[in-house]
Amino acid sequence: MAMMISETGTASHNKSNHGTKPLLRVLWGETIERTPLWLMRQAGRYLPEYKHVRSSAGNFLDLCYTPELAAQVTMQPIYRYALDAAILFSDILVIPDALGQPITFHESKGPVLKCLEDKEAVKRLSLDHLTRYLAPVYETVQRLLKVLPSTVTLIGFAGAPWTVATYMIEGGSSKDFSRAKRWMFEESSFEPLMEILTAATIQHLLAQIAAGAEAVQIFETWAGIVPEDSFHRWVIRPIATITEAIHERYPNIPVIAFPRGAGVHYEAFAMETGVQAVSVDSSVPLAWIVDHLQPHVIVQGNLDPSILVVGGNVMRKKAQRILDILGRGSFVFNLGHGVVPETPFEHVTQLVEVIHA
Ligand code: CP3
Repeated sequence: MAMMISETGTASHNKSNHGTKPLLRVLWGETIERTPLWLMRQAGRYLPEYKHVRSSAGNFLDLCYTPELAAQVTMQPIYRYALDAAILFSDILVIPDALGQPITFHESKGPVLKCLEDKEAVKRLSLDHLTRYLAPVYETVQRLLKVLPSTVTLIGFAGAPWTVATYMIEGGSSKDFSRAKRWMFEESSFEPLMEILTAATIQHLLAQIAAGAEAVQIFETWAGIVPEDSFHRWVIRPIATITEAIHERYPNIPVIAFPRGAGVHYEAFAMETGVQAVSVDSSVPLAWIVDHLQPHVIVQGNLDPSILVVGGNVMRKKAQRILDILGRGSFVFNLGHGVVPETPFEHVTQLVEVIHA
């Protein structure tokens, strides 16, 4: 087991209380009785109490930047379900916003940004005010520390540089990512953009940890569209750089990464990024995960979010199969991607029961 977190902690991040936190224990390489469980997008529109706060907050970014409300929404799934982690309520796209590429969220279109035009536009992005601009996010973390149950781990997060770059270049979500890929292949400003994003991600994650985040997750949602001969350069290398910077300052903070759709690249990703845990999407065969990933890292995943929409015995059987096959190794139960808005919230209770049984 390639556990690379050293024994020496910092004053604010030692292991003194990890004994009470099942997720942290597993991320630190311990074998424990019960598999820890949390869900990507566990706070969100499938919860009536989220929709209530969301409608009173104005726009989505206002919710992210209002510590009182962001902390409240982070805690909603924790009060409802016996989950082992709370994930900070924020978004991966606060980074372009803080770099000076303003973003808005539309009910139907999702995120909308003025797309990056050229080299000059990349030069105008500025790291100067990043952590000051994002101070409300760190204040949310501090508030959460005061209310979090002693068994629940607080996870901070950021998007990986490539995934965040796709939204910045395309001006929002995309069907084919052709503009982002063209930048990757030929645009001389792609490398400087990725450098700024790598530096911004490091600053943002370090500030979350300094505020009290106990683990971090890096979301590489669009790993699966990167051509194979670019995967190392633009997915593995930036995430390795970020992970190294975190461990240099905070050797005891586990890093989880989610290279969604990485396919056979998952193995190189697990071996070469230096992360403690890899979150696996639902397309990866369980037996392959046992042979190719669990020898190197802690694995997190990978129930299909649509099965959580179906619920009942169909879901119970599929969740049990994942537990039976992956639960013998170092494992954190999660979905293969985020909870979708049409999920009946009672199904999460059913899922927690399967994992706790
Ligand atoms: O509970 C949690 O997981 C914490 C909060 C969280 C959000 N977004 C809140 C959110 C996290 C960890 C994210 C990550 C995120 N954001 C990713 C990576 C994970 C993934 O799902 O692939 C990505 C790609 C984004 C970018 C993003 N944010 C998009 C494309 C959208 C619009 C589509 C959508 O799902 O609505 C968002 C908006 C967003 N982020 C919402 C939430 C709860 C919905 C906005 C609303 O309430 O109006």
